[in-house]
Amino acid sequence: MLRKLSVFWRLIEKEQQMRIITIQILVVLLAFIELFTIGSIAAFLNLITEPDKIKGLIEIVPYFKGRSNEDIFLSISLSLVFVLSFSAFFSIYIHNKSIILSTNIGHYISSKLMAYYLSRDWLYHSSSNSSVIVNNIVGESGRLSNSVIRPFMLATSKLILMLVISTAIFIYNPFMTTMILLFFLISYMTISKVVRRKLRDNSYVISKENKERIQTVNESFDNVKMLILNDKIDFFLKKFEHSNLLMTQRVASNMVLGASPRYIMEWLAFVSMIAILIIYICLGNELSEIIPLLTIYGLAALKLLPSLQFIYASLSTIKGNVSALETISSELSKYKVDKHSKCRNVSFSKSISIKNAFFRYPGKDTDALSSLNINIDKNKTIGIVGQSGAGKSTLIDVLCGLIKIDSGSFRVDDYDINNEITSWQRQVSYVPQSISLSDASIAENIAFGEPYTDIDWQLLDKVVELSYLDDLIKKLDNGIDTIVGEKGVQLSGGQRQRIGIARALYKQASVLILDEATSALDGVTENKIMQAINNLSGKMTIIIIAHRLKTIKNCDSIYMLDNGKVVDCNTYEGLMATNPSFREMEKYA
Ligand SMILES: Nc1ncnc2c1ncn2[C@@H]1O[C@H](COP(=O)(O)OP(=O)(O)O)[C@@H](O)[C@H]1O
Ligand SMILES: [Mg+2]
Repeated sequence: MLRKLSVFWRLIEKEQQMRIITIQILVVLLAFIELFTIGSIAAFLNLITEPDKIKGLIEIVPYFKGRSNEDIFLSISLSLVFVLSFSAFFSIYIHNKSIILSTNIGHYISSKLMAYYLSRDWLYHSSSNSSVIVNNIVGESGRLSNSVIRPFMLATSKLILMLVISTAIFIYNPFMTTMILLFFLISYMTISKVVRRKLRDNSYVISKENKERIQTVNESFDNVKMLILNDKIDFFLKKFEHSNLLMTQRVASNMVLGASPRYIMEWLAFVSMIAILIIYICLGNELSEIIPLLTIYGLAALKLLPSLQFIYASLSTIKGNVSALETISSELSKYKVDKHSKCRNVSFSKSISIKNAFFRYPGKDTDALSSLNINIDKNKTIGIVGQSGAGKSTLIDVLCGLIKIDSGSFRVDDYDINNEITSWQRQVSYVPQSISLSDASIAENIAFGEPYTDIDWQLLDKVVELSYLDDLIKKLDNGIDTIVGEKGVQLSGGQRQRIGIARALYKQASVLILDEATSALDGVTENKIMQAINNLSGKMTIIIIAHRLKTIKNCDSIYMLDNGKVVDCNTYEGLMATNPSFREMEKYA
């Protein structure tokens, strides 16, 4: 466990480490204050039961000289109240600080996870499940802060308190203290040994089922239409209930395992006390002889037992959730903060060229792109055609800098794009096959990722007009401020695509890439949009993938792809004249 905690130590920032150390120092201080309060209470009780002792006090404390017994009692009581209050407030202060710090660390870890996942490239995301990512950022980091870090910090404070108090009572009566402590410790260790395995098992089941649960929720609501239509609600509901039930059962089991030893230990403490008393009396001892022993026993039971219980419960909570620490540390160990290596500003003035490019998706046994060559001059309009699975979208991902080719070169003018990806991406706008919108207004969706107050309204109006959104917007009560619903459900496919096009135009990049971006539009709208895009031709570099060949009729040249290779390149008329498979495609387009 300590090794795992040292992993955690390396995850957090220097400042947080310092704050943890400061709190631990304050905790040591608190332990001594608590010890002092226990001593004061003992002395106070002593004074009440044997008022004669006041005379002794007057000799030690000059302030008490010549004062009445009542005055002295009052002074002692008031100082006791002061010490008790100070100790209480100090405890609250430290408790608060620990909780604030652990939640702050939780926040830090979740933000770091979010940054880590956002820094991963497109290939990583295309092969990982978003439920796992969501669970790690939201669920596992919460488990780490609430069920590992916080219990750990609070438990160490109790441990320090225990050590200080037991040292004190050890000095008072070494033999009995050792016996009592050993008795408690051995009992707890036995219980802990019995339940340790179960706790670890629970921890893994909780992680796994929580992930499944989130995945089922995501999948159900992503496909809610299919669920209703195919009468599959029961299937998904059962799947959710299964993981949810397994998870909650294990959470409950962890809680029970953490809390029940307390009752066993209380029972043991009292039964053993009565047993000791009976044995002492049977051996013919006087009751008064065992009073000091009982005092220690009582103190231990009152102060040490709850601390021991707290430490035990915390350790079992930590054990029950340690898988969260493992997951998070293994994810974050892969996180290398990219210091944004000095990216030159790519100035695109001549051409984009890809030479002899090969690319294979991880785990696949065929190349998605193989010995591919392509050359696109600035401000030309290029079409890309090919059967589905030919590698068109992969090529677009390469052109956008979302995928790095395995070999070959990708240059823009004289720049090797592999080294200047960020700068290149600023010059590319992209309309994907399926547009995903945020649950925000049309304006915010077009000015993607820009705060409402920063929106350039003049530009927005222009792109709205270019993408033929003005008719739609006029019909809506809230116009451009209409909310589109989650993922844009309140719009039709064609309307979503038009927003996607407007978004790409709003970026004012020098390269516009459309991946079957007009496939959901009706013929009339598609025609109008292609007209608008044709109007842009010559002013920007445009790359169009299309199934309907008439949308690429006006392209300067058309690349035909098959099995990741360029099999032909010509103008529309050239291809029609010389390429039989292009003619075939045209027939069915
Ligand atoms: N994220 C991915 N992971 C693994 N293989 C992929 C991925 N995306 C596409 N592929 C594979 O790469 C090939 C080319 O796909 P793609 O470029 O999408 O074709 P197109 O856009 O021409 O229909 C296909 O065989 C497809 O199965
Ligand atoms: Mg595609």
